[in-house]
Amino acid sequence: MDEDNFAGVHPQRLAADPAAAPSPALAGAVVAVLARGGLVALPTETVYGLAADATDARAVAAIYAAKGRPSFNPLISHVESLAAAERHGVFDAAARRLADAFWPGPLTLVVPKRRASPVADLVTAGLDTIALRVPRHPLTRGLIAAFGRPLAAPSANPSGRLSPTTADAVVEGLGDRVDLVVDAGPCPVGLESTIVACLDGKARLLRPGGISRADIEAVLGARLEDAPTIEDTRPSAPGMLASHYAPAAGVRLEAAEVRPGEALLAFGPDLPPGADNAAMVLNLSPAGDTVEAAANLFGHLARLDASGAATIAVMPIPETGLGEAIRDRLARAAAPRAFPGEVEPGSPPGNAKD
Ligand code: TXA
Ligand code: MG
Repeated sequence: MDEDNFAGVHPQRLAADPAAAPSPALAGAVVAVLARGGLVALPTETVYGLAADATDARAVAAIYAAKGRPSFNPLISHVESLAAAERHGVFDAAARRLADAFWPGPLTLVVPKRRASPVADLVTAGLDTIALRVPRHPLTRGLIAAFGRPLAAPSANPSGRLSPTTADAVVEGLGDRVDLVVDAGPCPVGLESTIVACLDGKARLLRPGGISRADIEAVLGARLEDAPTIEDTRPSAPGMLASHYAPAAGVRLEAAEVRPGEALLAFGPDLPPGADNAAMVLNLSPAGDTVEAAANLFGHLARLDASGAATIAVMPIPETGLGEAIRDRLARAAAPRAFPGEVEPGSPPGNAKD
């Protein structure tokens, strides 16, 4: 018996034929769980994904909680078709070519996110780009079509463990942290999707996977540039994505009071002294719930930033539950920007780090 799984507790499990579209009963069960903000582990042709309604920030926060991710890495949005994908992202010629050649299939494309997309900011971790994929698995496609909304789905493993290619591995890793597991046997590809970013007129390989570089380059008629994934760059170059991660306002963490002119990002029922005079107050979770707080994080930060206040004071956030990931994200928002060319060296834009 494994210590860190939920021994003896098992999620609801439904068997399905991997070669066919889902039965109406299966589709109904999955849609019901997704519609109430629940989590469903689904097979795709690559690995099992832990799926939630990508337009429901709270459901997406539950994905991070279930995986125990210490930070908000952006998630892939799974859609039914290229036409559906184009409602969420802007496809340049290279992106469209790759989609035409490899979708449905194990290719994820990172493209600029459309402002009108209803995909929650928590899915893209506040980035202005979105990762989109049309899976080939007939069951997954049928379930996405039945739900009618994009599904955010990282691999269905606890953070730091291998991606699961069987339903047993999902249950062993996540236990009852998932509401429903659809078991359609082993995943045929068994390797995650290849991720290609098509941004600023360049196509770059972010993660090798189920489709080879050579096959992609053959379709592009050009070499793919290399680029580290966000996860890979974090330890070595934490400031690299600061232009995406940092608001224009300074961010002051662990604030015990609100100073004149500051906006307040609150947490919990008790506001600190000075809150009455704050430029704006938004509460991540008046009840002090870290899952609710995660769901509100990116939207609240953006609104406080848009208030024009020079500094956003942030109340202390506990380290429990999703607090760790929220604190990680806020620490990055508070860090001086270090991306060469974006900000003049030596002049971080007014970030008070006390
Ligand atoms: O095969 C797969 O891709 C599986 C199945 C379930 O579809 N999913 C999967 O998701 O592997 P996940 O969350 O384990 O990996 C997603 C990767 C992460 O490395 C993340 O950093 C990257 O996609 N990613 C997502 N959005 C991004 C963005 N806007 N820019 C750059 N990287 C992004
Ligand atoms: Mg993964």
